Amino acid sequence: MQGLTSVRDADVVGKRILVRVDFNVPLNEASEIVDDSRIRSAIPTLTYLHEKGVAKIILLTHVGRPEGKEVETLKIAPIAKHLQSLISYPEIELRENLRFDSREEANDEVFAKELAALGDIYVNEAFPVSHRADTSIVGVPKLLPSYMGLRFEEEVIRITEALTPAKPALAIVGGAKFETKQPLLEKLLPQYSEVLLAGALANDMLKARGLPVGVSLVSEISVPRELAQNTNLGTPTDVVVELNSAARVTNTADVRQGERIVDIGQKTIAVWSEKIKNAGFVLWNGPTGIYEKGYVHGTDALAEMLTRASCKALIGGGDTDAALLKFSFDPSRIFVSNGGGAMLQLLADGTLPGIEALKSN
Ligand code: 3PG
Repeated sequence: MQGLTSVRDADVVGKRILVRVDFNVPLNEASEIVDDSRIRSAIPTLTYLHEKGVAKIILLTHVGRPEGKEVETLKIAPIAKHLQSLISYPEIELRENLRFDSREEANDEVFAKELAALGDIYVNEAFPVSHRADTSIVGVPKLLPSYMGLRFEEEVIRITEALTPAKPALAIVGGAKFETKQPLLEKLLPQYSEVLLAGALANDMLKARGLPVGVSLVSEISVPRELAQNTNLGTPTDVVVELNSAARVTNTADVRQGERIVDIGQKTIAVWSEKIKNAGFVLWNGPTGIYEKGYVHGTDALAEMLTRASCKALIGGGDTDAALLKFSFDPSRIFVSNGGGAMLQLLADGTLPGIEALKSN
């Protein structure tokens, strides 16, 4: 990783360390943390700094999208309380939600100076937001000696590895908005034996290939002809469809008017499971069905298969992680990225604004 230095190589003793974390964790209506994995994954860096004897650890994070206004439900208090229950180093100070200040998302020079004045050294431990050119991600590291946090470093190494995967390499890409995923698909196709499309991306491809998709979610743009004709881009052979809250399984060629595709079917699960079993590497982002509406079967079945397979794997994207975490697995074999959007952008572009910013200082 040329030009990037780990916090392990920084002279931190007695210094004030400004650590940009991503504690943008899901909160329920009672402002309780639903999944604290992003908080937990910053702990090795915080413990490292504590044990080294730093003077102060100032934590910066955003929570949600308050758009420059103070929003009661997005205040840092419940997160600070939770962090305290996990580690209680007296030198830690967690500051209020950065996005209450509209300058955070504007890469504002004055705000960057104000934040930089709080510390002597900057550490990026916020991989999931490092695809955003926000002040605390790209502005502050230009003003201070800057380093990668331990988890950030692992994210970059493990995701970069996925660009030269062990063969045969299999990618499963779900989610929506074909136009945003197209650069990624084009990047993966030369390296991966097969790229299987799931979710709304699959709907777009089925439609482009002349198959009926009923009232399923599709993108506004149409899939370019060369991609539609690429036989290494796979789609489900059967799907679960819903009409008036009743679900049935059908071959993809037989989806009826008014039906909505909500997940992959059993035959597809069997074929894709076999591909996972035989793969040398699996990259997977995005569920196979409408996970939040309870159509979890396809995603969970593939997740279980992956935990029983022997290949190395990289997983990212909220619901894909949730499915995998239902099973036990070896984290040295299967790496679950904390960042959905950041992971996809790093794969597609080979870098991120937050990575480039660390090279400047
Ligand atoms: C995330 O949850 O994906 C990151 O924290 C980035 O958040 P954002 O999409 O609101 O910038």
